[in-house]
Amino acid sequence: MSTARIIIDGDEKNAFELPILTPTEGPRAIDVRQLYGKYKLFTHDPGFLSTSSCESKITFIDGDKGILRHRGYDIQDLAENCTYLEVCYLLLYGELPDEKQLADFTHTITYHTMVHEQLQFLYRGFPRRSHPMAILVGAVASLSAFYHDSLDISDPKQRDISAHRLIAKMPTLTAMAYKYSVGQPFIYPNNELDFSENFLHMLFATPCEPCKIKPALARAMNKILILHADHEQNASTSTVRLASSSQANPFACIGAGISSLWGPAHGGANEEVIKMLEEIGDVSRIPEFIQGVKDKKYRLMGFGHRVYKNYDPRAAVLKGSCDEVLEEIGVKNSKKLAIAKELERIALSDDYFVSRKLFPNVDFYSGIIYEAMGIPTELFTCLFAMARTVGWVAQWEEMFSDPDQKIGRPRQLYTGYPARKFAPVAKR
Ligand code: CMC
Repeated sequence: MSTARIIIDGDEKNAFELPILTPTEGPRAIDVRQLYGKYKLFTHDPGFLSTSSCESKITFIDGDKGILRHRGYDIQDLAENCTYLEVCYLLLYGELPDEKQLADFTHTITYHTMVHEQLQFLYRGFPRRSHPMAILVGAVASLSAFYHDSLDISDPKQRDISAHRLIAKMPTLTAMAYKYSVGQPFIYPNNELDFSENFLHMLFATPCEPCKIKPALARAMNKILILHADHEQNASTSTVRLASSSQANPFACIGAGISSLWGPAHGGANEEVIKMLEEIGDVSRIPEFIQGVKDKKYRLMGFGHRVYKNYDPRAAVLKGSCDEVLEEIGVKNSKKLAIAKELERIALSDDYFVSRKLFPNVDFYSGIIYEAMGIPTELFTCLFAMARTVGWVAQWEEMFSDPDQKIGRPRQLYTGYPARKFAPVAKR
């Protein structure tokens, strides 16, 4: 077994060895679990820059090479060749499904898409102008009130049903959040349609008019869902894992994950990118905008990533899809796409971005596609949440097979007052 030798204060008498763990791919990890119990020391790593928080077999990222794989399969192969539900199955159960497994899984998800009728009253309690993410956080957490029959997390069958319910109902809940905000009636799921078509149908149909979803749009939606399906231990996934380490129910935990995703440094960036492109307004204003970034007045949204120090492979696929989708739906000369491409070109040749290894991430091009599809900007992060639900659920499920799983309880480097003498209020 490999070990790392730690010498405290340069004193060999205070030296000890810690085991080094070897993954199938990626950097090795020093196992510090005994550090406090045996040596009364903590590690200190705010933001988890160098900390592995769990063992996982689901997703592998090599940030330096721009590689993303799910269960060993390259993201590009999955995005080009699979349906979203095939990828869901892969993430949840570890293997790509055969035809029968896929048909059964598709049937199960399709027949869990409807939500309890009572949920519409929850929606009706929100102001019409609510941000759809505010509604979604509440709606998903509220599912724990509707599904008492699947809250026993020690039962693998109940966990599986909860997983199916979450994946199946997220599009319905997301579409309902949108319909509510524009004052239109909710549209029920249609079991004749596939996952992506059904979602677009629930968004765009009205009781007065059926809505024929263009195959190109359904294909683009399928691809976008796959590209967002999982991304190992990011902020929202770690939130789900930490929340569920206390054995909280899955609906509450996914609600916590959605809350974390909402932030502009994470999934909320897709909405911010479009606002940024609108603010820039014209290619001619890019140099001025870039100067503002360098002066640290604001960040270039959709750029940079904690793990990728190379082109985000998801952004590469989406960039290709942008031209395709815009052409298919007849949008010629998209001003936003032109600004985005020029912004990328300038940023990638500018030393500020090059030296910090800042590249476009998944959020840089997704918004342009969403917008071309007619999806309103406030809904972008909900779509991310909808796609990522399977990743959260797969990671949550993986925790139950981990013998090392414990309640998550980080420690701290206390820098406050040492003990002080208490004084009653009249003497302060
Ligand atoms: N624009 C300008 N400068 C940036 C950016 C950016 N987007 N991102 C990082 N930097 C700079 C930062 O100012 C710092 O510079 P300096 O060394 O001079 O202080 C350096 O790069 C390192 O930044 P950091 O904040 O320490 O890096 P991080 O790994 O903690 O942050 C990030 C990662 C994604 C939060 C950050 O890159 C960011 O804020 N990006 C914009 C928001 C965004 O697009 N988020 C989506 C991430 S991908 C999808 C997802 O996870 O949801």
